[in-house]
Amino acid sequence: MLCLGIESSCDETALALVRDGRPLGAELATQADLHSLFGGVVPELASREHYRFIGALYDKLMRSCGVTLRDVDVIAVTRGPGLLGALLVGTAFAKGLALGANKPVLAINHLHAHLLAAGLEHELTYPSLGLLVSGGHTHIYRINAPDALTLLGRTLDDAAGEACDKFAKMLGLPYPGGVLLDALACRGEADPTLFPRPYTRNANLDFSFSGLKTAALVYLEAHPRLGEEGRRIRTAGIETASQALCDVCASYLSAIADTLCQKMEYALQQEKHADIAGIVVAGGVAANTLVRKALADLAGKNDKPLWLPSRALCTDNAVMVAHMGCLLAARGHGHALDFSAVPRGHVLPEDLGALRAPMPLT
Ligand code: KG4
Ligand code: ZN
Repeated sequence: MLCLGIESSCDETALALVRDGRPLGAELATQADLHSLFGGVVPELASREHYRFIGALYDKLMRSCGVTLRDVDVIAVTRGPGLLGALLVGTAFAKGLALGANKPVLAINHLHAHLLAAGLEHELTYPSLGLLVSGGHTHIYRINAPDALTLLGRTLDDAAGEACDKFAKMLGLPYPGGVLLDALACRGEADPTLFPRPYTRNANLDFSFSGLKTAALVYLEAHPRLGEEGRRIRTAGIETASQALCDVCASYLSAIADTLCQKMEYALQQEKHADIAGIVVAGGVAANTLVRKALADLAGKNDKPLWLPSRALCTDNAVMVAHMGCLLAARGHGHALDFSAVPRGHVLPEDLGALRAPMPLT
């Protein structure tokens, strides 16, 4: 089965072709430099950029893979969560293709696609415990099957990625800050006593990163030189960073990594999850070096396999959307063309079950 995946939920316009779980080709245009000028994603600009690039990326992808729309079996597109205008560009494009070529379409939950991205590189077995750490979400799931997930815990305030980006902003580093923080932290040594492991002294699986952010703000107010240095790094490059700055970045990221691992450990200890076959990790923050290492240690300690996607599959991409399309289409799911885009903050309809009478896959 050949699936065309389309992703436009935030600031990456991405299209990819996946055939039976194997990527055939992918195109991606990032808007990071544009939004960096404003310190964060500007929704109207994001929509315009998607609109500007999506057609050309589609043509390039099909040409480079030697494929025409006639060869495509199903079109999968991110319906949400994300920025409404940005999602509308992708969903309208997908609907146009589906209508014009009479192809079935699948409206994909972006979080679901992230979560199963590891399946492109690893043989996943179920039930597994899933950790999704992205810019907007920090969720723990029990994954019983590719189309049967239960949310066990979520962040009550900021997501782990937001906590990274806001700390980077406090340091005067450009948006999106996660990658730069990672590079600085790799040169530093973490002090485990510097920042708290927030909201871990409880037995639930929810997260709250606001206390960590406040602790970091207080620390940086007491050490104003670190902020001045962060601003200088924008032009001078990270090679010029002081040891103190690298150490504070390592301390902050290790507080996030430890917090994620503690909650995953609680989940693994629960009797009702004794049957967990392995740990699945997903989302942009899963590209982080310290987070990856901490999760590998956690998996080793609990004697479970860790299914961690390569870095390019952690951050937003369309390969994961196309992969999700293959998985769901193979299980008989599909959507009628009147599906709507679902922006951030709105609950995605639980419509996988309702659509078990699928559109035929021709
Ligand atoms: O999954 P993603 O690409 O987009 C969303 O769905 O949100 O995640 C983006 C988030 C941003 O907050 C970004 O700073 C963070 O992932 N991120 C990282 C790294 N790469 C991306 N955070 C820490 N270390 C990284 N290497
Ligand atoms: Zn994402």
